[in-house]
Amino acid sequence: MIRRARLEDLDEIMKIERQSFPVAWEYSVFLNICIQGGRVSSGESGSLFMDVVEEANKVIGYAVWEIDTRTLEGHILNLAIQVDERRTGRGKMMLFHMIGHLKTNSIDTCRLEVRESNIAARALYESIGFIASGKILDYYFDESAIVYTMGL
Ligand SMILES: CC(C)(COP(=O)(O)OP(=O)(O)OC[C@H]1O[C@@H](n2cnc3c(N)ncnc32)[C@H](O)[C@@H]1OP(=O)(O)O)[C@@H](O)C(=O)NCCC(=O)NCCS
Repeated sequence: MIRRARLEDLDEIMKIERQSFPVAWEYSVFLNICIQGGRVSSGESGSLFMDVVEEANKVIGYAVWEIDTRTLEGHILNLAIQVDERRTGRGKMMLFHMIGHLKTNSIDTCRLEVRESNIAARALYESIGFIASGKILDYYFDESAIVYTMGL
């Protein structure tokens, strides 16, 4: 089941975040999103969303994305699946979920940044048609980002 993130998901989300990234997002960032029920309005420019994938009453992954209603662009900000649940299609399922939501909101392009060395994530994005369209030097404190884009 994929559903909006809630406050009670925070502990599992933080566990997955810390096992997934060399530099984890701050607890306060997830708290702010979850406290608002997984949807944070950015005023006239759009909204940010956070959904979790839950199985057997346990959160095993999540995704965060935003919609810019002025540029009609979607931006994927975070995606992670619990280590021992990986490589079973959940990452791809979450990606299709976000893309479906973007399309429903008449968004026509999607962008994301990923660490240059992140082979798994880059393979996932390329497997559904994202194209590497640029590189941002030192985007992360210790590494460059590859920018991926896709027309929806
Ligand atoms: C990237 C991530 C979300 C992928 O999730 P996942 O559930 O394991 O991915 P899926 O099972 O849906 O994989 C779909 C396809 O992506 C590619 N892929 C996924 N993991 C891969 C890996 N470790 N090596 C090579 N290709 C991989 C494959 O093409 C795979 O299809 P296949 O299994 O039929 O070969 C997961 O590895 C993760 O949480 N990583 C840590 C967090 C992260 O890096 N997030 C991305 C930030 S930009």
